[in-house]
Amino acid sequence: MTKHSPVRFRLARKGPDRLSGALIVGLWAAQAGCGAPPADDASTELSSEESALGAALNPYGVSSTVHTSGAIDTTNPFFQQLGTNPRSCATCHSSASGWTTNTLSNSALLLFTQGTAPLFNLVDSGTRPDADISTFKARLDTFGTTVALKGLTRFTRKISPTAEFSLIAVDDPYGWSTTAAYSGFRRPTPTANESKAPSITWAGSPTVDVITQLRGFLPGAATLHEQRDPTNPAPADVAAAAGDFMFGVIFAQSRDFRAGALDSDGAKGGPNNLLAQQFYVGINDNAGNDPMGHPFNPKVFDIFDAWAKYANANGHDVTASARGAIYRGQEIFNGAGKCSGCHDSPNVGSHSVVAFFNTGTAEPPNCSPALPLLTFQNKTTLETKLSCDLGRAQSTGLWSDIGRFRAPPLRGLAARAPYFHDGQAQNLRDVINHYDTRFSLALSDSQKRDLEAFLGAL
Ligand code: HEC
Ligand code: HEC
Repeated sequence: MTKHSPVRFRLARKGPDRLSGALIVGLWAAQAGCGAPPADDASTELSSEESALGAALNPYGVSSTVHTSGAIDTTNPFFQQLGTNPRSCATCHSSASGWTTNTLSNSALLLFTQGTAPLFNLVDSGTRPDADISTFKARLDTFGTTVALKGLTRFTRKISPTAEFSLIAVDDPYGWSTTAAYSGFRRPTPTANESKAPSITWAGSPTVDVITQLRGFLPGAATLHEQRDPTNPAPADVAAAAGDFMFGVIFAQSRDFRAGALDSDGAKGGPNNLLAQQFYVGINDNAGNDPMGHPFNPKVFDIFDAWAKYANANGHDVTASARGAIYRGQEIFNGAGKCSGCHDSPNVGSHSVVAFFNTGTAEPPNCSPALPLLTFQNKTTLETKLSCDLGRAQSTGLWSDIGRFRAPPLRGLAARAPYFHDGQAQNLRDVINHYDTRFSLALSDSQKRDLEAFLGAL
């Protein structure tokens, strides 16, 4: 039916030693895209304000966290082992990786622990629940394409009998899925900036507000990912403490390798400014339903307005031209890129009301050959649809919701490649190219470079 052939971790043939070097360098290049600085820049000294809370290097610079409590309390249950395996929530939601995971750290972990770190657990990682993990080579095959290169967690999915559609065929490159139960792969969403969005997860169905959802989230996650005994779920006070912790986490890029501190010279980047940023459900709603009555303003981001003075800086002054590029990128986001209609909450980029959009990320040709391809059939019209993720339709069962996801908050992007629900965009340039094609934007190369510089500075 399709040319959906099994994929293998191709570099594995080179043997572990050469693989490590090739993979790390390759990933660095892949994540950073062509506009990135050489890896040597990683030795840039950190200023004291950046090393404060969980500062970490990424391909564009340094990201950091601030917390409403003033500290990252590592005695919180979020950081404790709650189940029978040696994981905590931070195994997949780490401050050093944008409060999720990323390809760089997952790949390094795979290589340096030979695939034995707690992350690599067949309960929810790797190609299939019964994959071979007996040797390092086998673990590279099992965790390489899914966990290391795409940062994915595996869920076993079933279609509700009351859905408007049925699953009539599954093409699983790992040969495990059937139409009765199939593997669905997703990137962990960051447990950060939760106070700046109207809903959580890629396509979750909120019936209560975000803080209430967060205060109830831990028990299910501990049972699923940490293999806690389901008959002894984590107590409500433990769950609430973790929820309050997650709600207080604010995370953003704080320093750009070239442009310097993102909150200097009048700019308002970095986590402290984000903490002060106003958010309420419906703020700057693009459909005109802001509860405060403000009309929609497509200029969603203004944090780099002060760097407009560098818009025409030439390449001789590295700092000035980098600041100019970030400013121009901001204006492309607000204008020619047409990004701000969906990512409409000011200086955050979440969609400010609960809504789900189909941007083609779960349809061929964007489906990765590394993931199962599904064929759904509408029970009424008998029409069929190829998809690699039901998105919103997983919970609603609606045909029209297939492939719809929320527009997530966009701060701290540089720390969390790859992007989209399934990690299909290896770097920010891939994200931009996706939209350029999808919405026929016809952005020039220099516009793409500027937009990338801006996204990398969020
Ligand atoms: C094996 C990896 C893994 C572990 C361990 C893990 N999670 Fe997650 N988490 C995920 C994935 C994947 C998602 C995204 C699910 C989706 O949207 O489909 C997620 C999403 C979330 C979200 C939603 C965040 C948002 O704003 O969208 C919260 C909250 C969360 N996890 C809390 C926890 C807690 C609490 C723990 C510890 C008990 C935990 N997670 C452990 C993989 C993990
Ligand atoms: C039609 C609504 C819509 C428009 C327009 C839109 N986005 Fe998105 N954006 C989304 C949705 C939905 C997702 C999640 C898709 C997925 O994960 O499959 C997303 C995800 C992203 C992500 C990935 C975030 C992550 O954590 O992985 C980035 C980056 C992004 N968008 C940037 C942009 C930029 C830049 C533009 C303009 C060029 C843009 N978006 C235009 C709806 C939109």
